Amino acid sequence: MQKTFYIETFGCQMNAHDSEKVVGTLLATGYSQVETVEEANYVFYNTCSIRDKAEQKVFHRLDTFKKAAGGGKVFAVLGCVAQQEGEKIFAKAPHVSLVAGSASYTKLPQMLVQLEAGNRRVTGLSFDTDEAFDTPYTRRDNPHRAYLTIIEGCDKSCAYCVVPFTRGPERSRTSQSVLEEGRRLAADGYTEIQLLGQNVNSYRDPSPVGWDFATLLSKVGEIPGMRRVRFTTSHPRDFVKPIIDAIDENPNLCNHVHLPVQSGSTRVLAAMQRLYTRDQYMQRIEWMKNARRPIAITTDIIVGFPGETETDFEDTLKLLDEVRYDSLFAFKYSVRPNTAALTMPGQIPEEEKTRRIQIVLERQRAIQIRLNSDLIGNVEEVLVEGQNKALGQWIGRTSQHRPLNFASQPGESLLGTYLPVRVTRAGPNSLVGERVTPVV
Ligand code: SAH
Ligand code: SF4
Ligand code: F3S
Repeated sequence: MQKTFYIETFGCQMNAHDSEKVVGTLLATGYSQVETVEEANYVFYNTCSIRDKAEQKVFHRLDTFKKAAGGGKVFAVLGCVAQQEGEKIFAKAPHVSLVAGSASYTKLPQMLVQLEAGNRRVTGLSFDTDEAFDTPYTRRDNPHRAYLTIIEGCDKSCAYCVVPFTRGPERSRTSQSVLEEGRRLAADGYTEIQLLGQNVNSYRDPSPVGWDFATLLSKVGEIPGMRRVRFTTSHPRDFVKPIIDAIDENPNLCNHVHLPVQSGSTRVLAAMQRLYTRDQYMQRIEWMKNARRPIAITTDIIVGFPGETETDFEDTLKLLDEVRYDSLFAFKYSVRPNTAALTMPGQIPEEEKTRRIQIVLERQRAIQIRLNSDLIGNVEEVLVEGQNKALGQWIGRTSQHRPLNFASQPGESLLGTYLPVRVTRAGPNSLVGERVTPVV
């Protein structure tokens, strides 16, 4: 059988990067990638179960794959729904042959051998591995920015969240292997690294040097040729001042921190088991506001957590006004299997969650319009990441992670370059500017 595969990916950057590693492993094993389900012999579906009716959506998609694809294909379900639903997937979608969660991907080569041998049911669902999925074979999608995993899994137990169940306990990579991969990326021409983990702040080097996250971050920032280093996600409880000191000391460390708060009410934070109070969170914001370079701060908000009163919700709105986030993601609380919040009293009706999320988004939009307008006239360095041919613009991104676009000239090729751009117009979600001609 010819070995062609198709892969479809949902979810966070960790999942996107896992798929890059899966693709690399498949290519190294003699498979070739195709763009449609129809052309493929092997169909991989890397799933996310963070919100909504993730499980139903997966089964629906698997059904569509099957109908569109005809017979004779091998179907594999990976990622968080695979881990969560396990062997139940075989019962509901009998055409599936492989079900594996991310904590088992180190065994992927063996699983592939079993699939090729014609095994009808292969699973990788245990959490017994204490290694991270650290493979030499990664096929990265973006030619300039590379994801680099430093820690996998999560040891927290936020009451609403499936991730500890779907990605298992925390496993940190050795600092040596992180730095080696970083240097390889620089040699391959990457200039931006994004360090990844569900909670990068609880990184702890398993080798004898025992570096913490701030130390690792500084060292990655010193890799010659690496101009931008980002990291996500930060848990406020483990977010310590030395991280800000590291950003202060090295301009290669981007002045952007994503620090999910979830709620502005200490009462709700306790019910969520977030392990910090509003005041403790605000102290971290203070550190950032006092940094030498202005640090862009972004966050995640959940509205309508069980028991969230109107007063709690207003506390969240007040927090938005106080912090003035540069951007945020807002979500309606969504009931997830296995989680502590599943059976909590005081579930909020859907219409009320919709009302609250709209208020959050409107309030935040007004804040972003003001913040972005204040940037008009500034000159910012952008990394040119893409082109919008219809608008005749290059798409750039600043160190603060803001999109800053500027006019393109016919025939020029600027992808991957760093350029100074003066901001001339501001919208709620992006900036427009013009290139500053360097003074010769
Ligand atoms: N490890 C990251 C979160 C990963 S999930 C962290 O701790 O910040 C990304 C975001 O999804 C979370 O920050 C949260 O805002 C949201 N989220 C997670 N579970 C959710 C649920 N059950 N309902 C609604 N939003 C949820
Ligand atoms: Fe989920 Fe909380 Fe872990 Fe983030 S820290 S992945 S929200 S359990
Ligand atoms: Fe989704 Fe799993 Fe990431 S649930 S958000 S793919 S960790």
